[in-house]
Amino acid sequence: MKLPATARFSTICIHAGQEPDPTTGAIIMPIYQTSTYVQDEVGRHKGYEYARTQNPTRAALEQNIAAIEGGKAAVAFASGMAAIDAITTMLKAGDHVVVTDNTYGGTFRLFERVLRQYGLSFSYVDTSQPDLIEQAMRPETKMLFVETPTNPVMRLTDLARAGAIARARGVRLVVDNTFASPIVQRPIEFGADLVVHSTTKYLNGHSDSVGGIVVAVRDEDVEWLKFIQNAAGAILSPFDSWLVLRGTKTLAVRMAQHNANGQALAEYLASHPKVTQVLYPGLPDHPQHELAKRQMRGFGGMITFDVGTLEAAHRVCNRVRLMALAESLGGVETLISHPASMTHASVPPDRRAAIGLTDSLVRISVGIEDPADHIEDIRQALE
Ligand SMILES: Cc1ncc(COP(=O)(O)O)c(C=O)c1O
Repeated sequence: MKLPATARFSTICIHAGQEPDPTTGAIIMPIYQTSTYVQDEVGRHKGYEYARTQNPTRAALEQNIAAIEGGKAAVAFASGMAAIDAITTMLKAGDHVVVTDNTYGGTFRLFERVLRQYGLSFSYVDTSQPDLIEQAMRPETKMLFVETPTNPVMRLTDLARAGAIARARGVRLVVDNTFASPIVQRPIEFGADLVVHSTTKYLNGHSDSVGGIVVAVRDEDVEWLKFIQNAAGAILSPFDSWLVLRGTKTLAVRMAQHNANGQALAEYLASHPKVTQVLYPGLPDHPQHELAKRQMRGFGGMITFDVGTLEAAHRVCNRVRLMALAESLGGVETLISHPASMTHASVPPDRRAAIGLTDSLVRISVGIEDPADHIEDIRQALE
């Protein structure tokens, strides 16, 4: 079983990093649930000494996702936040980071409540406007941290422009690609130095694992991240690595269905008289639809829509039957949430207002059930 150099995307998802187990020929990578490895004699071993440092199941996942994102190597962590935290260890006291203003709340919390204490500083700007990125750059800026599309207002950042701005200043471009998935968007093709995922979402896809991964392109970054993985120890467990590996095998087909179902539900919502606005990059009236067509392949499964009032938003969330009222995203099942009172409740009201996150917004992570069932459920909830 050899992956040809010309292998296409869905083939890479299934086969990259996957060799039949040398001991038994098992086609699926086993869960190497061990803490240590027996050595042949002092100083002679099979490349594995201790499981924080090396684990074959984790290594297989890392090779798989590095190939899917088109990076040199990947390093897996215990959660998306642990992965983001590992990236920030590349910074030193006094360094400055430019961040998408509508970044995930947990990222904002890590940056503001933890890393500021260590002498790092952060500027939050609307990175959908390249001029604002330029203006926020300082001599001490070392990193540009971008999320696109943003959660939940679905603003896009032009990755090629962001990459050019970062490159011109020797600043690392980091892209949190969780919301899109590498099937929909591959930031390294546009100049990203580091791509981070919460594997909890689309990469695993089955809502049964929490994890994170960083994909890097430069040797020095790979080396540092592997060092941090071992030094700080926030590693992904063998079982979670195995679950995510199982998830990535179906990533291409799952994302095709998320894209199709997302588009169908967004179009239905846009035609509904009780919906005042739909935020979905696949709709022609999305202000960045042209950019979405350039840098995304399909528009994903995340939709945000406005139903006019807080009460109406709560009503829709409480009335759905098939969709589950829950935080998180990217699973095969459809989840609905009210960002202002759930995922973004900890974001101060003035910041929410600044990014257009109003109380009347509802967010859906569209799953891969039959799209007619999504429409039927949301129709009765809006009645
Ligand atoms: C865009 C984004 N990045 C990072 C994270 C953090 O991931 P985790 O929950 O796996 O720590 C999340 C979680 O929702 C997210 O939505």
